[in-house]
Amino acid sequence: SVAASQMRNALNNLVEGVKDPNEKERFETEMDNFFALFRRYLNDKAKGNVIDWNRMGPPSEGQVVEYNTLGNSESVEYLKKLAVVKLNGGLGTSMGCVGPKSVIEVRDGMSFLDLSVRQVEFLNRTYDVNVPFVLMNSFNTDSDTANIIKKYEGHNIDIMTFNQSRYPRVLKDSLLPAPKNYDSQISDWYPPGHGDVYESLYNSGILDKLIDRGVEIIFLSNADNLGAVVDLRILQHMVDSKAEYIMELTDKTKADVKGGTIINYEGSVRLLEIAQVPKEHVNEFKSIKKFKYFNTNNIWMNLKAIKRVVENNELAMEIIPNSKSIPADKKGEADLSVIQLETAVGAAIRHFNNAHGVNVPRRRFLPVKTCSDLMLVKSDLYTLQHGQLIMDPNRFGPAPLIKLGSDFKKVSSFQSRIPSIPKMLELDHLTITGPVNLGRGVQLKGTVIIVATEGQTIDIPPGSILENVVVQGSLRL
Ligand code: UTP
Repeated sequence: SVAASQMRNALNNLVEGVKDPNEKERFETEMDNFFALFRRYLNDKAKGNVIDWNRMGPPSEGQVVEYNTLGNSESVEYLKKLAVVKLNGGLGTSMGCVGPKSVIEVRDGMSFLDLSVRQVEFLNRTYDVNVPFVLMNSFNTDSDTANIIKKYEGHNIDIMTFNQSRYPRVLKDSLLPAPKNYDSQISDWYPPGHGDVYESLYNSGILDKLIDRGVEIIFLSNADNLGAVVDLRILQHMVDSKAEYIMELTDKTKADVKGGTIINYEGSVRLLEIAQVPKEHVNEFKSIKKFKYFNTNNIWMNLKAIKRVVENNELAMEIIPNSKSIPADKKGEADLSVIQLETAVGAAIRHFNNAHGVNVPRRRFLPVKTCSDLMLVKSDLYTLQHGQLIMDPNRFGPAPLIKLGSDFKKVSSFQSRIPSIPKMLELDHLTITGPVNLGRGVQLKGTVIIVATEGQTIDIPPGSILENVVVQGSLRL
């Protein structure tokens, strides 16, 4: 098509502009991979990208195994063949960070990264193994991450990093690349989602490095999921079931109806994301009865299988087009509308043999997507044990529901408004709207709602105990 050949020419021009021959070769491969993605995007656009609802249904028996049916295991033997991989290429933009989310302080001065390092160090000490800790960074996160992990140089842990691809954003109007040359401004480029892990592991040489070291299986998860610790039962099950790919799922609640789910597509396992669902079936997709589980993004994969699917060009993960805008560089000019083509690591499940899901307890999925989540993991509901957050056994029922308003969107404003996390062991539900500041040593119980209306600020005095109350307007306790 015209769009494809125009794009190909523009990419060739970008490649021609690179001076260093080694870098030129690397960049050319990257642009070739991008071009393949772009072509698939044009194809999808032509034929529509929604799933044929009649060919699929909920997973059948055997496609999802219950965690509590797995045998206990102390299979140190397999630990010697394992590497832990963290997805660390995304920016914490939804929490107002300008750097990687993984550098946010979670507890005791330690960030997500520090805590994950503690987890792997503990594993290595306990079983006398040397499981490497691998980070997939992007051009957005690499240098901040390097600063944090420097301090582990003398430690007894092998940390490896690699960068994922840097793809050109695409101008919405012309379908041409936004960057005019190889080293044009950062906002012309993007990291193409975590589905990029396959090609990036391969292209960076880390995949072969791991294989040479004797690694056969990787356990991958989001950098902000502190519940994603290495689990020997799943590892053993992976080996016993000869699965090349295992996706950890967990029971869907009404709060996670938008999460990707696993489906049975004419006998094979696939991931279904809400974007692929025909409009008239969205409610069915969200139903927690019909589709009971969702993807935690904790994924176990066989390295040789990854190598095979990459080398055979088998990967055809569903493309998620993401609209963005690049701020104009001159006053008075309009921002540029662009799209970036992304893929998700879970979408590759259908390319692997014996791939299936394991339905794991919720504690293995403890993501921090918002400051409300951050408040929970920083609170007295959890204690820290070797980098792992353990819920207080005195807690009755699941974690409380916390809804902090837009004044708490950024981590920095959250930290200044709530400098000390209130006690919440007996809290069920907290809603805060408007500019509210919590003093030190506050205790929350039951359902607490604090609403500061326009033009008001509510300061909750230090040491207050709030139990089943609605606090509105200005407060005098
Ligand atoms: P997501 O983008 O799915 O979730 O990334 P998020 O980090 O919670 O971001 P928002 O708030 O939903 O937008 C999940 C994991 O994948 C990594 C992220 O760093 C995060 O750990 N990721 C994402 C990459 O490594 N590369 C990417 O291109 C995108």
